[in-house]
Amino acid sequence: MKVEKIRSDIGVLVSPDSKEELFETTIDEWQKLLYENLVIIIDKTKLSYDEFNSFSKVFGRPWTEKEHGIHFEPIDENGINHWGTKNATGLRSLSWHTDNSWHPTLRKPIRILNGAKIFDPDSAVVHFLNTGYLFNHQFSEKERRDLMNLRIVVWDYKNKNACYPYPLVCQNPHTKELALDLSAMDINRDILGLKKEADYIKGNTFIIDLIDQYGKSVGLELLADYIEESMNHEECYFSQRWSPGLMMVLSNTNSMHMRERVTEQDRDRLLWRRTLSHYFQDQLS
Ligand SMILES: [Fe+2]
Repeated sequence: MKVEKIRSDIGVLVSPDSKEELFETTIDEWQKLLYENLVIIIDKTKLSYDEFNSFSKVFGRPWTEKEHGIHFEPIDENGINHWGTKNATGLRSLSWHTDNSWHPTLRKPIRILNGAKIFDPDSAVVHFLNTGYLFNHQFSEKERRDLMNLRIVVWDYKNKNACYPYPLVCQNPHTKELALDLSAMDINRDILGLKKEADYIKGNTFIIDLIDQYGKSVGLELLADYIEESMNHEECYFSQRWSPGLMMVLSNTNSMHMRERVTEQDRDRLLWRRTLSHYFQDQLS
């Protein structure tokens, strides 16, 4: 199985010689690849639905029906979400975000997606960012201390009264690396020409504000600046096009992503997506 780093600090491309190699690789090996690289791209496989259903469980514990229910996510009898142009959620662009970060306990799951029907590789290109890179390479000790005092306030759309303030700086429980926890869907600035999709954000998660230790707002510009600056560093940022059968596996700890629009929304496009909890999250709870 050919394994190549995409960037020094994010992304790894796995090209198996056969489908069997995917299943022969151990769970420990897959998890090491994921946590060391944050995003795994698996090419040249074209798994059937049944093969995807079986293989995708190696990365963590699949979410239960109840857990999916908290997020209103439709799943089939195997717990797989069919994410495509036949449903509204599969049409939109999604500005920089971390998956499901608003929830107090079900935070930052692993997601694996398979390009089941892809008609255009320029459609819905995905961009990935290591959110710890600048924090660990660019900031002085004082700046880091200042950032550690900030909190992001995230709205829970299911429980309308709940806002959760999270520390802006978080430690990856697996690698122990510190990173900015940029769990944003509502940074008020277009990056790469992507506009935030207001109707999507309304029913989903968004950051309300960034506050200091006294509860005073410091504004969201800081987050947008951080993302734009990170994208200038090729060590920690890459974009990935889709091709039929390509899989993307992403750990939402220490990384975030965005997705461009589907180019032709009336064409049939479909991803199979499974959501899993990190094993260490289960051990913690
Ligand atoms: Fe996402």
